[in-house]
Amino acid sequence: MRKRVAILISGRGSNMRALIEATRASDYPAEIALVVSSRPDAGGLAIAQAAGVPTAVVDQARFRRENRDRAAYDAELHQALTGARIEFICLAGFMRILSDEFVRKWEGRIVNIHPSLLPAFPGLKPQQQALDAGVKITGCTVHYVTPELDAGPTIAQIEVPVLPGDTADTLSARILKAEHKLYPLALPKALEHL
Ligand code: GRF
Repeated sequence: MRKRVAILISGRGSNMRALIEATRASDYPAEIALVVSSRPDAGGLAIAQAAGVPTAVVDQARFRRENRDRAAYDAELHQALTGARIEFICLAGFMRILSDEFVRKWEGRIVNIHPSLLPAFPGLKPQQQALDAGVKITGCTVHYVTPELDAGPTIAQIEVPVLPGDTADTLSARILKAEHKLYPLALPKALEHL
């Protein structure tokens, strides 16, 4: 049985697209049963809809307006996921910190992609961090999500060279291409451990 996977996004959704495309192979062990966005204007929503994937928005701005806290947001998110009988979560450019409580509920069943070779350069702007550090090799990592940000066990990585003259934009674009290969390869590995 293919596992029912949800992808959580906040923006353009290019990693989401790569995962959806991978699921077209009949022997791929996952189906994307839901895409949830934290923003109603995320570009990825239209891509998911065009691919026939059900979408939902849990709008963080609405929670802010209504003075509802992180726990309330994560509870609604959890409900959307359980309502769609989701078994596994892929974060793909989801620009929110998840509460410890949410992460514990999904422990071992939630992964993220990050554009550096973790544990190097966790947090924001890892491509700029790599340039600032002067490394010759960086890359991307798919890892389990744990309460500590960008610190969970690694599932898979791809190395990407830093080239002379690189800017954050050129390096990000090179890493992003590797991300689109890595996520579809890493997800089946993680699902083997369910
Ligand atoms: C990717 O670089 C991912 O590694 C990071 O956020 C970016 C999302 O891009 N977590 P996209 O929305 O998948 O195009």
